Amino acid sequence: MAQKTFKALVITETPEKRYLREVKEKSLSDLPPGDVLVKVAYSSLNYKDALSAIGNKGVTKQYPHTPGIDAAGVVEESQSPEFKPGDEVIVTSYDLGMNTPGGFGQYIRVPAGWVVKRPDGLTLRESMIYGTAGFTAALSVFRLLGAGVTADQGKILVSGATGGVGSVAVAILAKEGFAVTAVSGRPENKDYLLGIGAREMISAEEATDTSGKPLLKSLWAGSVDTVGGPILATTIKSTNYGGVVTCCGNAASPDLPLNVFPFILRGVTLIGIDSQNCPMEMRRKVWHRIAGDWKLPHLEKLASETDLAGLSEQIDLMLKRQHRGRTIVRLPD
Ligand SMILES: NC(=O)c1ccc[n+]([C@@H]2O[C@H](COP(=O)([O-])OP(=O)(O)OC[C@H]3O[C@@H](n4cnc5c(N)ncnc54)[C@H](OP(=O)(O)O)[C@@H]3O)[C@@H](O)[C@H]2O)c1
Repeated sequence: MAQKTFKALVITETPEKRYLREVKEKSLSDLPPGDVLVKVAYSSLNYKDALSAIGNKGVTKQYPHTPGIDAAGVVEESQSPEFKPGDEVIVTSYDLGMNTPGGFGQYIRVPAGWVVKRPDGLTLRESMIYGTAGFTAALSVFRLLGAGVTADQGKILVSGATGGVGSVAVAILAKEGFAVTAVSGRPENKDYLLGIGAREMISAEEATDTSGKPLLKSLWAGSVDTVGGPILATTIKSTNYGGVVTCCGNAASPDLPLNVFPFILRGVTLIGIDSQNCPMEMRRKVWHRIAGDWKLPHLEKLASETDLAGLSEQIDLMLKRQHRGRTIVRLPD
């Protein structure tokens, strides 16, 4: 019997190592074996997807490939007792969209252990406005709070604030009552950042120390860093005694140019954030917060929507740092 076909964005590697992006027809038999077949309603664009689309072998080893580390949709077939046809589910991270065909296709087939039931209080579309970036932001805030950071201790710095992780972190922290200082290299986004809850915006230059001093004036009770490099190093050197910094990204650099003094003289804590293999118990807890008390009243302000045909342009904007907030991808019905 002929297999059902569906549409997907496919990245193909040419012999010259160029990476072509085309919307193509695929068959269900192209998908790997797995417990749960999901018809994807929405996906979202993350930085990793942009890297996959340009042939970054640290993300995707084999092409042709369909990126999309996020997917939200409806279970169509399930070999797992945990899920049944008709269930609305979210799949983010693990290997989805990296070396497993991802959410930029109308169907995914994945292990049951990657699947989370859509939490009450979030639609499938809303879950993708958060997506991996929003989940990572929420996980960062979850860990800051868990480490004892409270709103009365002082300001919280968020770097890469116009990006997906940064925007959601600014908004959740503001909802929790924190005074958020947003760092952005794009001053034209000041109104956007104040509109989603930042109290002030500083430039990347202001957030980057060039003196080379091992410790700087204490400014921050905590921070959600998404960029790494000199901004993260400056933040750690400027964190108050006992303050906490989370680190999830390397949009600027994977380097961390500093010495141990902030840790041994100010007791600063640096927490690494990994959403990809975040244990299921914590993953469920964080989604529960996202759908509950951290659900953002102005979620749509963070979002723009595209479809498979418009995705390539959005990938280019993200790579050129001209993208803002979260881009969700609507798959055809
Ligand atoms: N650890 C995890 O589990 C996890 C999960 C998701 C994402 N990440 C990582 O987190 C980072 C942010 O992801 P995202 O989805 O928010 O990406 P994004 O939407 O592309 O946002 C990144 C932001 O970083 C800033 N930026 C970009 N290039 C920079 C540079 N050279 N110097 C300083 N700032 C720069 C830009 O903000 P401004 O223009 O406002 O400065 C940009 O909007 C990425 O490195 C991503 O790989 C990690």
